Amino acid sequence: MLVRAVQKKLFDIDADLHIVPVFKGPAKQFPAADYAPFSAKMVSLLSSGGIRDEYKKRSFYSFETAHGLKKVLFLGLGEPEKLSAEKLREAAGFAVKEARSLGARTLASRVFSPSQHDFTAQLEGMMLADYSYDEFKAKKDADKISTLSFASASLPLKKTIDEIKTVVDAVFFAKDLMNGPGNYSTPSRLAFAAKEAAGRDKKIKIKVYSLEEAKKMGMGAFYSVAKGSDEPAKFIVAEYRGAPSSKKTGVFVGKGITFDSGGISLKPQVSGSSMIEDMKFDMSGAASVIALMKIISGLKLKLNAVFLAPVTENLPSGKSYKPGDVLRSMSGKTIEVISTDAEGRLILCDALYFAQRYKPAFIVDIATLTGACVVALGHYATGLMGNDPQMLEMMKKSGETTGETVWELPMLEEYAETLKSKYADIKNVGEGGAGTSCAGIFLREFVGDYPWVHLDIAGTAYGIKNKSYIPDGVAATGIRLMYEFVKKALKGGVL
Ligand code: BES
Ligand code: ZN
Ligand code: ZN
Repeated sequence: MLVRAVQKKLFDIDADLHIVPVFKGPAKQFPAADYAPFSAKMVSLLSSGGIRDEYKKRSFYSFETAHGLKKVLFLGLGEPEKLSAEKLREAAGFAVKEARSLGARTLASRVFSPSQHDFTAQLEGMMLADYSYDEFKAKKDADKISTLSFASASLPLKKTIDEIKTVVDAVFFAKDLMNGPGNYSTPSRLAFAAKEAAGRDKKIKIKVYSLEEAKKMGMGAFYSVAKGSDEPAKFIVAEYRGAPSSKKTGVFVGKGITFDSGGISLKPQVSGSSMIEDMKFDMSGAASVIALMKIISGLKLKLNAVFLAPVTENLPSGKSYKPGDVLRSMSGKTIEVISTDAEGRLILCDALYFAQRYKPAFIVDIATLTGACVVALGHYATGLMGNDPQMLEMMKKSGETTGETVWELPMLEEYAETLKSKYADIKNVGEGGAGTSCAGIFLREFVGDYPWVHLDIAGTAYGIKNKSYIPDGVAATGIRLMYEFVKKALKGGVL
């Protein structure tokens, strides 16, 4: 999608469809300065009720001109004071969805609100709504929007357009990887994608370790999960140095299980609201950190960050690890395997320990980690835990900005007790429920004293319904969130 700001009045822009925001309330709308030559007609349609002003109600009109019809979609936005960034994102996505169903390919739109922050949300909504995945379909989706033009506004738009294009590009990159089936989005392909995302950026150094190399480094937990699969596992390390003189580095770790069968603790076809075929999304964390790298590099941010992704399948075979096995993690801590389906924390624990070699300013990990998180928080809040109040607060604030709600879960000492093992230093599954908290507490054992936050996106990565700007249900939640977190860290001197 080509997005541009045009120094023209809305109706002077050539487009299949023009989008006009409509607010409720006494304020005078549709001034001639912006909406000539249809301003008077629009004002009368609004006062007669022909144009709806309620939130997400749309009206459609064609106006006759000497050069043919101008088609206009009026987008009701309700009362301006009730309009949050998330409501704007959703309404903007809705407008694009409607435009697509009307067969429009080129759009011209007004900027809905005079605030820069709101324009970001509007643009995100409009661009994110235009995603579809048709890699394996003979009939490709022909409905995509080719051009989106914004009529001149009092705001400077270009910088935001460039930024959001980079962000949405990266989100779509991650979504393609996530939608890719297990026989396609393999560990090798993810490693390739990381290199592709790095492009020619000289500030990025990528090293992809083979499973044998990971084993030699002492990653006994990652190794054990991977050894049952014939698909070669990869440990991806990407280092971005955008601030060579700074000693501060942020590390981002993503869970990369390209298919989670559960292993010997085999999953059933259906468990709760999840289907086993959904387990191709179990690499969403890894895709998210690669996407984050793409954004940081694309925007040439002046900071240092490292992206780690342990990537493997989790399959049963004669070589698989088993319940009862005791593994030696890279940290030296031994782990008793209770369930081979609690594999995410096992690959992450070695990656988190590896992260400590960077003496990081913080570590963020992101993972589709527990089914319990889907039960507790559903699809609209990401589970949050951590060991550092400032980082937790920063992540919550980031979620408020991007509309990706995060919700902190407790790390009670009583839960920690249940991870004690008779045979090893720790078990990979706790007892008595609180599955998401137990997983978080398990991970905490491997981050040392470094500030750390954990994001459980089991419910929020995919399976989203009724969001116009997430048209296929795959949200790739966490990418915009972590990017916002990075911006806040940079601003606050944490990075
Ligand atoms: N990948 C799953 C978690 C998951 C479940 C993500 C549903 C998205 C939707 C994870 O590896 C897993 O299987 N966890 C187990 C842990 C249990 C054995 C302690 C779970 O949640 O059931
Ligand atoms: Zn599992
Ligand atoms: Zn898993």
